[in-house]
Amino acid sequence: MPDLQTIVADIHRELSPRFGEGRLPDYIPQLARVAPDRFGLAVVTVDGAVHLAGDADAAFSIQSISKVFTLTIALGKHGDAIWKRVGREPSGSAFNSIVQLEREEGIPRNPFINAGAIAISDLLLAGHPPKEAIGEILRFVRYLADEEEIVIDGEVARSEAATGYRNAALANFMRSFDRLIHPVEHVLGVYFHQCAIAMSRQLARAGLYLAAGGTNPLTGHRVVSPQRARRINALMLTCGHYDGSGDFAYHVGLPGKSGVGGGILAIAPGKASIAVWSPGLNDVGNSALGTIALEMLAARTGWSVF
Ligand code: DON
Repeated sequence: MPDLQTIVADIHRELSPRFGEGRLPDYIPQLARVAPDRFGLAVVTVDGAVHLAGDADAAFSIQSISKVFTLTIALGKHGDAIWKRVGREPSGSAFNSIVQLEREEGIPRNPFINAGAIAISDLLLAGHPPKEAIGEILRFVRYLADEEEIVIDGEVARSEAATGYRNAALANFMRSFDRLIHPVEHVLGVYFHQCAIAMSRQLARAGLYLAAGGTNPLTGHRVVSPQRARRINALMLTCGHYDGSGDFAYHVGLPGKSGVGGGILAIAPGKASIAVWSPGLNDVGNSALGTIALEMLAARTGWSVF
């Protein structure tokens, strides 16, 4: 097998004629302004080696990838009680779908679809005003990445708040079943700001605890127990790509979480944390080239969990 740096550089080079493929998410105007031909890949191994290609230093909007970090915080604060508020099954529906919520009485299928992440935002508001809950999420992400420079892109948050009719509908619908405790505007404020966190290769660093049994091997910080890390990975594998989760498991075979900003965080347990970014999305809202890059990486490293 070629060394990892060669694999990463080869993937970047081989995909370069295809940069720009896919569609930008025009329902969040600020995200539709990103240059479509950006592509970054960052692989951080559990022993601390870093392999980068392309625009790995450019910050992008992590969007739904933030749901991994808010789930981790919520589990730390509330433990298994969170599973009364949100399920653990793949939805088989679009990330912003409302249909199951009516049949399932306002309990979202899993924490990674929008409705599920909104329920988790509500949990993070317990005992805090929205500003503090947002601050807590940002501090946690900085702690995971061991990097103070990470910020929330206020324009992305405002852009989404201005056009987030679907998320407002999901939150109000859940509220109608008494499934949200805090005011809908507060819950959405937290949700839109977590989605607007901007990260670069820092994302791969931030995911490292999930590749290393719950402890960040570079800082020695124990973030979660080994069992909890395994379980978060299980949810990423089964639910991390919405109605594309089965296809991602089939092609890539790694726990992963995508965002409409075109990023994907993938975890190779015991091996590495990987962040890829390419803004063009496929039909189910996951990064088109990001998915292909991860398929190439998993095939060339043998990192599939299967
Ligand atoms: O709520 C939204 O629609 C976006 N802030 C996040 C959606 C997302 O990233 C789903 N991704 N595939």
